[in-house]
Amino acid sequence: MDGNLMMAIRSAIAAAPNANTAMRQTVELLKDGVSHYTWVGIYVLDGNELVLGPFVGRPSPHTRIPLGRGICGAAAAEKATIVVDDVQNDPRYLACSLDTRSEIVVPIMQGRDVLGEIDVDSDELRAFGAKDRELLEPIAAMLAERLSED
Ligand code: SME
Repeated sequence: MDGNLMMAIRSAIAAAPNANTAMRQTVELLKDGVSHYTWVGIYVLDGNELVLGPFVGRPSPHTRIPLGRGICGAAAAEKATIVVDDVQNDPRYLACSLDTRSEIVVPIMQGRDVLGEIDVDSDELRAFGAKDRELLEPIAAMLAERLSED
């Protein structure tokens, strides 16, 4: 994982004509840029539900997730990044693909308000660590600016 990917995503988010394009380009760059990212998607909060926006990877059955359900709902409720090393050992986990082994969910926050979140799955166990947080948390902050503009 390198600074070039962060710079490419920063530029894409700044240059995108709207928030939806910014989100789509972000998920595409992340998926292409990090080999252990198997599925990358962005959920946007709509009332009390997280609604799946742009994603790259296998289609997910979880296109609307109520707050508090799944890892995604837990991260939004806790307003904090959640890393799950082994999804098979987390009772909150909502399965997207049987091949998924670990997951990171990073809330997109404006102040204390959750606007959405970045969700990344990996087919590798314990795929996510400090480097993923250091990449994804600043990107979530950049997306928050674009999402709050539209
Ligand atoms: N695993 C997530 C659901 C979304 S899919 O991974 C795309 C969860 O437990 O909330």
